[in-house]
Amino acid sequence: MGQRAICSDHARKYPTDRVAATAGRGPPACVAADTPCPLDPLRIIVQMRVFFTGGSGKAGRHAIAHLVEQGHRVVNGDLVPLGHPGVADLRLDLTDAGQVFNALSAYAGFDELEPGTGVPSYDAVVHFAAIPAILFRPDNETFRINTLSTYNVIDAAVKLGIRKVIFASSETTYGICFADGEVRPEYVPIDEEHPTVPSDSYAMSKVVNEATARSFQRRSGIDIYGLRINNVIEPHEYATKFPAFVADPGLRRRNIFAYIDARDLGQMVDCCLRTDGLGFEVFNVSNDDTSVGITSDEVYEQFYSGVPRRRAMGRYETFYANDKAKQLVGFAPKHSWRNDLA
Ligand SMILES: NC(=O)c1ccc[n+]([C@@H]2O[C@H](COP(=O)([O-])OP(=O)(O)OC[C@H]3O[C@@H](n4cnc5c(N)ncnc54)[C@H](O)[C@@H]3O)[C@@H](O)[C@H]2O)c1
Repeated sequence: MGQRAICSDHARKYPTDRVAATAGRGPPACVAADTPCPLDPLRIIVQMRVFFTGGSGKAGRHAIAHLVEQGHRVVNGDLVPLGHPGVADLRLDLTDAGQVFNALSAYAGFDELEPGTGVPSYDAVVHFAAIPAILFRPDNETFRINTLSTYNVIDAAVKLGIRKVIFASSETTYGICFADGEVRPEYVPIDEEHPTVPSDSYAMSKVVNEATARSFQRRSGIDIYGLRINNVIEPHEYATKFPAFVADPGLRRRNIFAYIDARDLGQMVDCCLRTDGLGFEVFNVSNDDTSVGITSDEVYEQFYSGVPRRRAMGRYETFYANDKAKQLVGFAPKHSWRNDLA
């Protein structure tokens, strides 16, 4: 565990050695009035030692960059290297349990040999590695790789005493994205209570991963948070993709007209690292607005007519509700294509 920023009240009450000893198990709440102390049980801020899987990919490289900016020490475990100057690359195949156990119990770098105190424990695992859609591999391979690697990662984390796992689930669990023909939501906005009965191998693998995670959490009591990530958009994609989305909103029907900025996804991961004590939870992860130019009322009239609308919605409000992430981990997306393209 690295340096922790704590308020003076808390530092007086709980000396550093005691704080370190209680790391990850929720030290007593801070009584400082002015700013929330990061050592409060639900808002622990630390510079953590994080093992990140799949960090060489589209979403992971932005999330890792954000975590490094926050001061976390990150090792990237992937089939291919990321090449970030501040991040160690460890090439591994997560479908091999032996490699996973070994990687999660290894040094993060040569510098960790110096103290002579053995291998430190990881504070958290962020598991993004996967086959990220159908049609890249045969369906059975997508299912096998995604479910087996997730089982291996969580199993190893639990057995090695790592107290936090954050893993990438998907919007596809709601059964709309890769459906044969058009499937409409049972209600809008879609929140985490919406049924998850998809019919494709990729989304099935993500539903299975959520069940795997829930069961491991039940047995171990650690925190395992699943991120039902919407369509990830990198900054350069606002210019290359969104003009078409504005011209034809129907292009976004399978993504529930939503999106998640890759940088905001990084912030969500950090929010989850900082928030302890929730047990097993899943979170929709999306930006606040839709990815199309027409208003949300117009989207509803054109695409969701007859679908129960559970509440009034803002002018461009997303149909992929992110309220739970905001309320439970303090997610506060900062980006919008409406600003980036302006
Ligand atoms: N991109 C999106 O729009 C989106 C949306 C929802 C969910 N997700 C999920 O987010 C995560 C990241 O997606 P992405 O778009 O960055 O995918 P990506 O394909 O760009 O990156 C995935 C990474 O995982 C690695 N990987 C795959 N199999 C591996 C294995 N067996 N061992 C080690 N590494 C392995 C790949 O080498 C790659 O670098 C995935 O879990 C994906 O399912 C992505």
